[in-house]
Amino acid sequence: MSDITILGLEGTAWNLSAAIVNEIDVVAETIAAYKPAAGGIHPREAAQHHANHINRIVRETLEKGGNTISAVAFSQGPGLGPCLRTVATAARALALSLDVPLIGVNHCLAHIEVGRWKTPAKDPVALYVSGANSQVLAYRMGHYRVFGETLDIGIGNALDKFARSVGLQHPGGPKVEELAKQAKRYVPLPYTVKGMDFSFSGLATAAQESSRKHDLSDVCYSFQETAFAMLVEVTERAIAHTGKDEVLLAGGVGANMRLRKMLAMMCEDRGVRFYVPERRFMGDNGVMIAYLGLLMYKAGSRTSISDSGVNPNYRPDEAEVIWR
Ligand code: ATP
Ligand code: FE2
Repeated sequence: MSDITILGLEGTAWNLSAAIVNEIDVVAETIAAYKPAAGGIHPREAAQHHANHINRIVRETLEKGGNTISAVAFSQGPGLGPCLRTVATAARALALSLDVPLIGVNHCLAHIEVGRWKTPAKDPVALYVSGANSQVLAYRMGHYRVFGETLDIGIGNALDKFARSVGLQHPGGPKVEELAKQAKRYVPLPYTVKGMDFSFSGLATAAQESSRKHDLSDVCYSFQETAFAMLVEVTERAIAHTGKDEVLLAGGVGANMRLRKMLAMMCEDRGVRFYVPERRFMGDNGVMIAYLGLLMYKAGSRTSISDSGVNPNYRPDEAEVIWR
């Protein structure tokens, strides 16, 4: 075994996290989650939270997993601008002070690569569903291609927005899942798939209106059934199109058991293997950043300080995949 160890920093949105990994496993991880006092995530408040905790997070991680660090990896995007800048500044300072290379990684691809590390998936169609992002991706010739994606907001943000509008606290996704279990009937809501893309903004608004006339648990259930059916449809078509025989679920919304069930059923019908990583690797986490950093480090990738600017709209298909 080589003794490459990478320290990764994640802080694109709500979760500030530092982790150290080597080629075998996670060596150390420390997290500090930002929870908005009211409403949703405020980008500058979240960035202030990250600034307040980053020193301690890094120190504790180095104490737990210390000895020598080969490189510092960080999320270069996508994410909330103020959060990205705060964490990137810390990553640059840390790399300089440890005198090791810096590696800027694409946050979406980190979600997928940690799944390929922590499950048997080798070359999957990935359904990446989080707050801000919803995409169906698969690797082809040097890039992860986006086969379908949301035309407006991510599924997680749609769930959170709807939940807030009916008086539930952030994050709304888990609360909608709980309420849906008590549902008695399905109420029709708009199902929007255009080509290979989907849209959730109209669904969130329609669900909010529907909740004035119908039982909230029925609306929560119907929201899930409608939105998840859209995601499953596009994932299934990406399998047909690419001919791949694995599906990997990634992102915080992947915690949802109903979404897993629906995907598992579709995969079983098609004779395709379905993989879900452990929950700690699904939502935003430092481990995935450190691990993609490790893959890139081994492939010879380094990010100079002058190229280390953040990109809040960094698309996963822009990144050149030199590690596969
Ligand atoms: P990204 O930057 O990738 O968009 P993120 O900041 O949205 O990441 P994640 O941790 O990947 O962070 O996902 C958070 C989202 O997951 C929130 O919108 C939350 O409501 C949703 N979520 C968490 N658990 C569940 C669940 N059980 N069912 C549905 N949604 C869930
Ligand atoms: Fe994420």
